[in-house]
Amino acid sequence: MTTNRGQFGSRLGFIFAAAGSAVGLGNIWGFPTQAASNGGAAFLLVYLILAFALAYPVLMAELILGRYTHGNSVAALSGIARGPVTKVIGTSTGLLGILVASMILSFYGIVAGWMLGYTVAYPLGVLGANDAANWLTGFTIPRNLILMGIFMLMTIAIIMGGVKEGIERWSSRLMPTLIITLIALAAYVLTLEGAMTGLRVYLIPDFSKIFSSQLILSALGSAFFSLSLGVGTMLVYGSYISDKEHLPSIGAQVALIDVGIAVLAGFLILPVMYVAAERGVEIFSASGALLSEDTLILTVLPELFATMGTVGIALATAFFFLMTIAALTSSISILEVPVAFIVERFQWSRKQAALVAGGLIASLSAVIILDFERLFGAVIALSTRYGQPLLGLLLCVFVGWVWQRNTLLAELQKNDPEVANGLFWRIWPVYVRFVCPVIIAVIFYRSLV
Ligand code: TRP
Repeated sequence: MTTNRGQFGSRLGFIFAAAGSAVGLGNIWGFPTQAASNGGAAFLLVYLILAFALAYPVLMAELILGRYTHGNSVAALSGIARGPVTKVIGTSTGLLGILVASMILSFYGIVAGWMLGYTVAYPLGVLGANDAANWLTGFTIPRNLILMGIFMLMTIAIIMGGVKEGIERWSSRLMPTLIITLIALAAYVLTLEGAMTGLRVYLIPDFSKIFSSQLILSALGSAFFSLSLGVGTMLVYGSYISDKEHLPSIGAQVALIDVGIAVLAGFLILPVMYVAAERGVEIFSASGALLSEDTLILTVLPELFATMGTVGIALATAFFFLMTIAALTSSISILEVPVAFIVERFQWSRKQAALVAGGLIASLSAVIILDFERLFGAVIALSTRYGQPLLGLLLCVFVGWVWQRNTLLAELQKNDPEVANGLFWRIWPVYVRFVCPVIIAVIFYRSLV
């Protein structure tokens, strides 16, 4: 079964793919405003600590487990079980991960479709096709369905190509494009009037705000979403890493890129918001908080771009293109979770598996679109607020308690015989066994009450 599995062709290819998964809509539309509203640089510091102290160990658990079993998430979790009971729990955890991954992709695909629509709408407007442009940006059921469908087809097409020819090739093309676009946009926006105010709001530390436990918990939740943890995405990507690679440093690079891009996005988003404020666009909600997420991206930014003439159209196109790329390299990593399972468990061809899994998830998206008010928020909450932490917890318990320590150590020793004496092995196992499960359990509990 493991003989004809795909494998990433190079270390850099894996890093692009995994960072591509991690860097997504979450980094750009959530993180910067969350930071600015909650203590600026002080929040960045807390986020950085949480990302490395808590999210990174879980990322490593997924990568190591994936690479050890070289199998899909269900095979991996049941493969390290020690008896019939843990085997059933492992299999169920893997399957639950696939379900939650599908739910995440079902709402992610809708939002990504909007990004795609805006990317095309601006140039169409210039060409005089105003009706088409308005249709693409207006919130209607047909438009939501069609854009979601197109985005899902793009995701399916890449996954059909396989690990090296699909995931790795496209991530290696899209990630550099994303970084260059982001830097270029930020550099331009920083020259505009009002930008420096935004930068100040983003960066001046206010330590009084960061000691709220609520805030730390929500920051941790964002870190989990941002690093694509829990559902098996990183586990499956890890299963395609060559045995030659040194996992702890590869994982650290992925985490650094993810946090780095979130921080970099702040250098674009906050200045952009205050440039908009300078031009009379409302950037605060009724309660006085900075507008964020969909209102920020779909209302504040278009209003700003509209004040800027031709430059605004170029900026808008570049910005929504950036968002679309960020979403695409993430969505492929989510679809790969069910696809890897179907291919390996039922011996289907990859193309068939991608079409069927992608088709089913798109149908779920369609149901959400048809009953948007009721389902959209509910699916997001169910999958990210409850599903992900629960799965993260089960994963830590499995890797920390069920998996035999000697096999775990042997896996790490494959390319680093000295690992047993290193810092990673001294700290990480304790984290996965005790610290991570306890903290995740606390978050989970808090989200219930
Ligand atoms: N990390 C991505 C983002 O920040 C989204 C994502 C990709 C994801 N794969 C995932 C989230 C798996 C949760 C689980 O937008």
